[in-house]
Amino acid sequence: MKVVIGSDHGGFALKKVVLELLGNLGHEIQDIGCYTLDSVDYPAFADQVSEKVISGEADRGILICGTGIGMSMAANKHQGIRAALCSEQYTAHMSREHNDANVLCMGERVTGPGVAEEIVRTWLGTPFGGGRHQRRIELFS
Ligand code: RB5
Repeated sequence: MKVVIGSDHGGFALKKVVLELLGNLGHEIQDIGCYTLDSVDYPAFADQVSEKVISGEADRGILICGTGIGMSMAANKHQGIRAALCSEQYTAHMSREHNDANVLCMGERVTGPGVAEEIVRTWLGTPFGGGRHQRRIELFS
């Protein structure tokens, strides 16, 4: 799968953990930054990741900030993006099965690295359920 990932400074350390996992899982990764702990504005990264998912350049996007909240708000402003903020495995699973989430958001200050890895594995590995769920996501698309 082609996965594009971005973070701000608040998600930088967790992004490194997720990058290693994605590599180990054999995904094609594009890291659009940030690349240091310098303070940056998260919407710029949410926009870049969202645009790459919408254009089809990436199959899925992952965004990490301090809480995951700002990233999810900014990503969901984009038509065609269904960004899910997840802090445990159940919502990661359901965001795929019921909501066909195409962007995963997490918060480094909320979710530890072990749980984040479980979330990513689950989120990337769970198919969309389709059927009635397809009708529902079309209602807000
Ligand atoms: C940065 O301090 C922090 O506001 C940001 O990472 C994120 O949590 C915003 O939602």
